[in-house]
Amino acid sequence: MNTQTTIDDGIFAEWPAHQAAVWGREPVKTRHRLHESPLLSFAALGDLIDAYPRQHYSLIHMGARGERRFWREGDLNGMKGADVIEWIANGRMWLNLRRVDEVDSRYADLLHLAYDAIAANAPGPKMTNTSMGILISSPNAQVYYHCDLPGQALWQIHGRKRILIYPNREPFLLPGSLEDIALFGVEVDLPYEEWFEKFAQSFELEPGDMAHWPLNAPHRVENFDMLNVSITSEHWSDEITRRHRVNVANGLLRHRLGWAPRSRGIAGPVYWAKAAMQSAMRRSSWVAKQRAGRRAVDFKLDPAHRGGVLDITPATT
Ligand SMILES: [Fe+2]
Repeated sequence: MNTQTTIDDGIFAEWPAHQAAVWGREPVKTRHRLHESPLLSFAALGDLIDAYPRQHYSLIHMGARGERRFWREGDLNGMKGADVIEWIANGRMWLNLRRVDEVDSRYADLLHLAYDAIAANAPGPKMTNTSMGILISSPNAQVYYHCDLPGQALWQIHGRKRILIYPNREPFLLPGSLEDIALFGVEVDLPYEEWFEKFAQSFELEPGDMAHWPLNAPHRVENFDMLNVSITSEHWSDEITRRHRVNVANGLLRHRLGWAPRSRGIAGPVYWAKAAMQSAMRRSSWVAKQRAGRRAVDFKLDPAHRGGVLDITPATT
């Protein structure tokens, strides 16, 4: 009997009976089959990079080891995708291909397959505005302690890494931090203490592992000593959208009126007042000014040296 299964038999290679009960409530690691897709082979990823629109990728170079939270943004310098992957394998950087599902419909099909499988296995609020990013990162690269606004999952495709996930509440995540991220649309430095590690859940991810965690739970990632490829997937729901509006509104109240809002409710008259207020104010020139010019491209890949980069005059993206 042929017992071999493929990605067409289902995205999840296993789904323990208890998993639906804790999905989205607790950090979870489970097995998937996305890494078996030919779309995620190194050859296919090289082709994808060859044609990737400039506005949809970020190339980040990390500072020397020991320099916390230092990174620069750069340009692929027109290099072939296969070479870009080799440069990353020999450098200290990561390439984030954002909105892959919008750039190439074959990846959108893969994303929809994955979210249909999640919805079937862990029924819950309807997930909308799904999106997929592909992260190609150097040996030993790390992503610092941060949190994200939408629901998220990390699907390991090539290489091995460790993800550490922390509780999505004080003192690990302060309401003001979440509001700033929601309001300004950028990552902020989340306050972090070494002792947070005592309260982290740590998962080692190898190809075919995926991690999912509660909304806004802070996390950080450490690559093992090898090239890594991971998919990050995101989704929204009615509840996540409401929480986001409250965060934006509370951030505006805090920054513009100097008032520290205490309610984080997502229903009732106060919620609707905040929803209307943030809708009117989030497009204001004040918000635009706070968001503008935060990151400039100041390096490009050096075609002459494997893994190398060249400094260029900064240009704001
Ligand atoms: Fe993240």
